[in-house]
Amino acid sequence: MYSIVIQYVLFMLCAQNIARNIQNYNIERAKLLEEELTIQVGGNIKLSDEENVANDILMQYKQRELDEFIQNPKYFNFSRHYFTYKDDIEKSEVYQIIKRMPKGAALHVHSSLMLSAERLVALTYEDHLYACFVDDDLKLHFSVTVPQRPCSSKWQLLADVRNSTENITAFDQNLKKHFTLYSRNESDWKNDINSNWKRFNKVCHTIKGFIAYRPIRERFFYEALKEFYNDKIMYIEVRSSLPNLYELNGTVHDLTHMPRIYNKVAKQFKKEHPDFIGIKLIVTMHRAKNVAKMFEIIEVAKQLNTEFPDLFAGFDLVGQEDLGKPLMDFLPALAEVEGEMNFYFHGGETNWYGMATDENLLDAILLGTKRIGHGYALIKHPSLLALVKSRDIAIEVNVISNIVLSLVSDVRNHPLASYLALGMPVVLSSDDPGAWGADPLSHDFYIAFVGIASRRADLRMLKQLVINSIKYSALNADDKTKFITELLREWDIFIKDIITNFK
Ligand SMILES: *[C@@H]1O[C@H](CO)[C@@H](O)[C@H](O)[C@H]1NC(C)=O
Ligand SMILES: *[C@@H]1O[C@H](CO)[C@@H](O)[C@H](O)[C@H]1NC(C)=O
Ligand SMILES: *[C@@H]1O[C@H](CO)[C@@H](O)[C@H](O)[C@H]1NC(C)=O
Ligand SMILES: *[C@@H]1O[C@H](CO)[C@@H](O)[C@H](O)[C@H]1NC(C)=O
Ligand SMILES: *[C@@H]1O[C@H](CO)[C@@H](O)[C@H](O)[C@H]1NC(C)=O
Ligand SMILES: [Zn+2]
Repeated sequence: MYSIVIQYVLFMLCAQNIARNIQNYNIERAKLLEEELTIQVGGNIKLSDEENVANDILMQYKQRELDEFIQNPKYFNFSRHYFTYKDDIEKSEVYQIIKRMPKGAALHVHSSLMLSAERLVALTYEDHLYACFVDDDLKLHFSVTVPQRPCSSKWQLLADVRNSTENITAFDQNLKKHFTLYSRNESDWKNDINSNWKRFNKVCHTIKGFIAYRPIRERFFYEALKEFYNDKIMYIEVRSSLPNLYELNGTVHDLTHMPRIYNKVAKQFKKEHPDFIGIKLIVTMHRAKNVAKMFEIIEVAKQLNTEFPDLFAGFDLVGQEDLGKPLMDFLPALAEVEGEMNFYFHGGETNWYGMATDENLLDAILLGTKRIGHGYALIKHPSLLALVKSRDIAIEVNVISNIVLSLVSDVRNHPLASYLALGMPVVLSSDDPGAWGADPLSHDFYIAFVGIASRRADLRMLKQLVINSIKYSALNADDKTKFITELLREWDIFIKDIITNFK
């Protein structure tokens, strides 16, 4: 009898204990989960009541887009190549919401590849444009008479070639292939980084030749600004080299002419779109060049800095990191101007762990870079990661670029997931949207938000990323404050828009 009572008492105590343990367990679990949600990018943002309503709408769509695939991963778009689902993205409600979102700034874009291939093709209808077609290569040059430059077939007026073809639509579609890597044909997608960069460089080369003609450069840039503006981007930091632009009468301009063009066109654009904030210029040099050339370009950059202090932001090196010279090779020139000039270096746009390219990250940080372009490899460097966090150096992540240029195939494995989780200073950008037919920013935001960030990441993360684009820009403190005020005004309109149109 006694023993039954004792057993009963013991059982009750034990059950209570288990209940208490499970309760404690759940409390601890919720606390840890909450802690991680707070650490991630946007975790500290408090949403207003209205924002919460909009957030619920957004999250319903986002989770619906994700949840069905855990059973059917073979249909999951984000683990496939961007080109397979690019044209379907607009069907997504999350995308449509993101498309309407005011995005602040684009901080990592290269001038020659900002504009869509469609608009480039339209620009080829200008007079005096000669073409040299060789196999799958195309050179374009404006000239009054047949250009006196090398062509291993022959220079022909593009208008004549176009007019002599049977089907002009088909001709223009073909022409477009020279302006973008985008293709539905899988055999055009190379598997390795060097082959994709080779294709990419070919596209760059054709476009750069085409837009070296001053009047076209002006129109090109104006239209690029318009495409960005229509994607709700109000400010852009453009990376650009300093080519010699030319006129039809043979005049060749000096290296400072292009920045003058940027300045002029941006002013004109702002006049016609008063809510546009403007642009700044990051002067770039190809990393295949040498130190002597760097000294020369840095001299011009200094001159620009004096003449256009509002336009000039800093200096960077471009071109495939793996095949170019590492930053270390340029140390003599870079160390000399360190402190006089801001750096915005590309760094760690590589999968080669522990190689010279990978160490560009180290030198970029030691040289005081203001932001890091890509920083794809940063996740493998704990000390550098800590420095980037403590010095608040923004990582400019360009997801689609990393897919197309072969760093990642399933974006769920993109290191951005970790940077977001760790609450790193991240900004999203698009690198060369024209080169892969992406929106100026909306596609990159969409893929990052649905395909890479946590299922739980919500409107707060989007808002923080947009604020980051202003916070880490090269604008001065006053201009940042004004910009953020303007952005938050636009943001309120956006929130009402979600509630009205997506419920
Ligand atoms: C995913 O891709 C399929 C086609 O492969 C498409 O029908 C669907 O709309 C896509 N979903 C999104 C959200 O892009
Ligand atoms: C196109 O070619 C036709 C003859 O084939 C000619 O009559 C016409 O003037 C040409 N148009 C242009 C714009 O060159
Ligand atoms: C011209 O080419 C386009 C694109 O290839 C095609 O859709 C169209 O049917 C062609 N038109 C004619 C008249 O052949
Ligand atoms: C895809 O590209 C390959 C190689 O260029 C070509 O042989 C093939 O015909 C193309 N396929 C389609 C459907 O266009
Ligand atoms: C060449 O053309 C440009 C642009 O139209 C003009 O500004 C310049 O004066 C011209 N130069 C000569 C030598 O005609
Ligand atoms: Zn870049």
